[in-house]
Amino acid sequence: MGQAAPKTAVKTLDDLYVEAERLDVTPGWVSREQPLFWKEPRSSYRAHHWAYQDVRNALAAAGDLIDVAYAERRNLILRNPFPGNNFATTKTLVCAYQMILPGEIAPSHRHSAHALRVIIDGKGSYSIVNGTKMAMESGDVVLTPGTYWHGHGHEGEEPAYWLDGLDLPSVHLTEAMFIEEYPQKYEPINSVAASSPFRFTRDSIAMKLDKALPDSEGRNDGIIGLETPDMPMMGLTVEKLRTGFKGRGQRSTANRIFVVMEGSGQTVVGPTTFKWSRGDTVVIPTWQHFSHQATTDSILFGLSDEPLMRAFRYFRSEVA
Ligand SMILES: [Fe+2]
Repeated sequence: MGQAAPKTAVKTLDDLYVEAERLDVTPGWVSREQPLFWKEPRSSYRAHHWAYQDVRNALAAAGDLIDVAYAERRNLILRNPFPGNNFATTKTLVCAYQMILPGEIAPSHRHSAHALRVIIDGKGSYSIVNGTKMAMESGDVVLTPGTYWHGHGHEGEEPAYWLDGLDLPSVHLTEAMFIEEYPQKYEPINSVAASSPFRFTRDSIAMKLDKALPDSEGRNDGIIGLETPDMPMMGLTVEKLRTGFKGRGQRSTANRIFVVMEGSGQTVVGPTTFKWSRGDTVVIPTWQHFSHQATTDSILFGLSDEPLMRAFRYFRSEVA
């Protein structure tokens, strides 16, 4: 004999909803202000452009006002301008422009979030990654994978500026957050690296890019990927666009951020055109159509969550 169903006071649908509240469950069939499923990707995040020179001027002013010995980092975060956004640049990534003055040392710390730097203007600046000092100069890309100690210093003559990219919003999403200050504040330098898997020099990027063939889909004139085995959720690319290049329209589920390493041009996103020049940043949220056009020979650094999308099997892309 089967077990008798337990008696319940639920006789009507209204009773059921009351009981559901009491049991901390929610009916899957009711309509919601925020639905659980929708037909194709959509985002609260906006396509947007930040002009390096404007932010650089603000950071230069911050030089006299913010001391990195106390603030740890003198940076201005590229907060996506949709109402209510706290800090993120895309759903999964955040960028900031950062400046360090000659003679300064930014204290070391380590955290769950993976981070990288694209150096826009720097000579004599450096990072210390797990005790290894490596140069961080104009055109370089430097990685500080999650849980690696890292700090920055500057032995040059002029302020150094770079763009930070982190997956911090992904850490917020998963809530798997750790951060730790270096116990003695400044991490000692144990070695100086002539080359490092965590530093892509301007020259090494240029050499690889020279050999890259134009994209068969017409999206760029050649693209390379930067190896990031210790930062598996982030996709790092560098692509070139020759003078007069007009790329085909494209879109993908990846959230993408482009930093102009060299040149000038524009990126068309739907009805909006963002004109850019060296140091600028353009963000393209998931599934928005865009195409690049170059006014002069240009190099774009790309940061995206494409590997995360692929790992989850959420990745989809198309060209127009
Ligand atoms: Fe950090």
